[in-house]
Amino acid sequence: MRPTASPSGRTAASDAVRLVGLTRTYGIAPREVAALREVSTTFPACSFSAIMGPSGSGKSTLLHCAAGLDQPTGGQVLVGGVDLSTLSERERTELRRDRLGFVFQSFNLIASLTAAQNVALPIRLSGRRPPQEWTREVLTLVGLGERMHRRPAELSGGQQQRVAIARALAVQPEVIFADEPTGALDSRSGRDVLALLRRLVDERGHTVVMVTHDPFAASHADRVLFLSDGVLVDELCSPDSRSVAARLAELETA
Ligand SMILES: Nc1ncnc2c1ncn2[C@@H]1O[C@H](COP(=O)(O)OP(=O)(O)OP(=O)(O)O)[C@@H](O)[C@H]1O
Ligand SMILES: [Mg+2]
Repeated sequence: MRPTASPSGRTAASDAVRLVGLTRTYGIAPREVAALREVSTTFPACSFSAIMGPSGSGKSTLLHCAAGLDQPTGGQVLVGGVDLSTLSERERTELRRDRLGFVFQSFNLIASLTAAQNVALPIRLSGRRPPQEWTREVLTLVGLGERMHRRPAELSGGQQQRVAIARALAVQPEVIFADEPTGALDSRSGRDVLALLRRLVDERGHTVVMVTHDPFAASHADRVLFLSDGVLVDELCSPDSRSVAARLAELETA
């Protein structure tokens, strides 16, 4: 695990990720789509941020650019102060692999591998041999130590998502990006996953950036950023479900 379970050992005052004038257009003029327009914000270390907005407002694009999975057409992404655009393809891949974790709505686990093997995979891909006690420890952290030898089909949706989170955690990333991690889950499993993400921030000092459509999910974050048509239009700190839902409804009818 991290050298210390206490967030105080981390650079709490620093920015884990900083976006400066982030712009992403798809396609070629005159048919181009501006998915993000000059978005600037910071995700402080050891914080939990939610990103909301109507469908097509640019949430996934923002997450993919911030995580180095997609290349912006303008502006900068800084991870721990490092400007991703100054890195070679290989350096970017290494930074992503070693310092960032990504969780998808559809889990994306490999069906033929057990939970433990899925969790160990990113470490294997980076050319190291994950100790078995390490994969057990990470799976125990997400409440699945007893089920480490099960395959995804033998686990519930919520359990599969927790395996996916454990896989993202395996490399001890500074930042975990999650795109609608509770979107495919029932409300009870969704609550388990949200409580886990909250705990990773509070107890282990990770930084979480989560896209969600659900005001209840967003209320677990320290703040909510609202996107509309690729523009960052608002921000709510210490959000509660009701005020998040009200702001989202305004944007959806705008
Ligand atoms: N690969 C692509 N090629 C062309 N246009 C794209 C591509 N990816 C996204 N877009 C467009 O960019 C805009 C933002 O898409 P994005 O997926 O970021 O939205 P979103 O807010 O995540 O939506 P949802 O809530 O439906 O997941 C949309 O208009 C979308 O059609
Ligand atoms: Mg999306």
